Amino acid sequence: MAAARRPLLAGNWKMNGLSTSIAELARIIEGFDAALSARVDLLVCPPATLIAAFAERAKGCKVAIGAQDCHFEAAGAFTGDLSAEMLRDAGASAVIAGHSERRAGHGESDLLVRAKAEAALRAGLLAIVCVGETKAEREAGRTLEVVGRQLAGSVPDQATPQGLVLAYEPVWAIGSGLTPTPADVIEVHAMLRAELARRFGEKARATRILYGGSVAPRNAAGLLKAAEVDGALVGGASLKASEFLSIAKVYLET
Ligand code: PGA
Repeated sequence: MAAARRPLLAGNWKMNGLSTSIAELARIIEGFDAALSARVDLLVCPPATLIAAFAERAKGCKVAIGAQDCHFEAAGAFTGDLSAEMLRDAGASAVIAGHSERRAGHGESDLLVRAKAEAALRAGLLAIVCVGETKAEREAGRTLEVVGRQLAGSVPDQATPQGLVLAYEPVWAIGSGLTPTPADVIEVHAMLRAELARRFGEKARATRILYGGSVAPRNAAGLLKAAEVDGALVGGASLKASEFLSIAKVYLET
């Protein structure tokens, strides 16, 4: 079933990168050869300050450029914010919505994340909506309940498989070096897919569900080859072309 969905590897650079980082993007572009691009989509989400330059560098190449957040309005008196339309204008083709660092650090609710995802769809950007439980929630056996509630609250009614990607990112796995077992990931992804199918019907089968949280070359094969896993949202390991590309190479193995 997973074979019908083209995998996506999305790199989330978070608050890392200066203009000199274009050299790292160039290495990613260079290493993302025909064999790799035949198997997997690659997306780099740098800080907003670098989107335009990265998009310019990636023009005509197979690597897409995305953003890490957006405001839900198209324009207006929102000091310091960027709209989905602006990000698209700068060359982004995707935007992450509801990353746990924004949910926790900026108090973003499911309702706000949904509005941001709607803004992305309105602007013609791919919305990558993140969900994931904390360590305490997992230990309390509440993972499926929490993630299910985030999915219900954060995914817009007008979502389509072309316009929306889900990312399951356990909060405790992000940046920690810890990962769930492939079986744990499969359990959550299967629930997410079943919920999508209940809400959107058959077309939900085409929606990609990524795993995120401490994905690295050493664990990529086990996590990415798990059933129902259609790629990854990669933080730290996406900052280095060699690591990001070696994760992508998992898809060259049959
Ligand atoms: P990490 O981050 O790969 O550094 O754990 C993943 C993410 O936050 O998207």
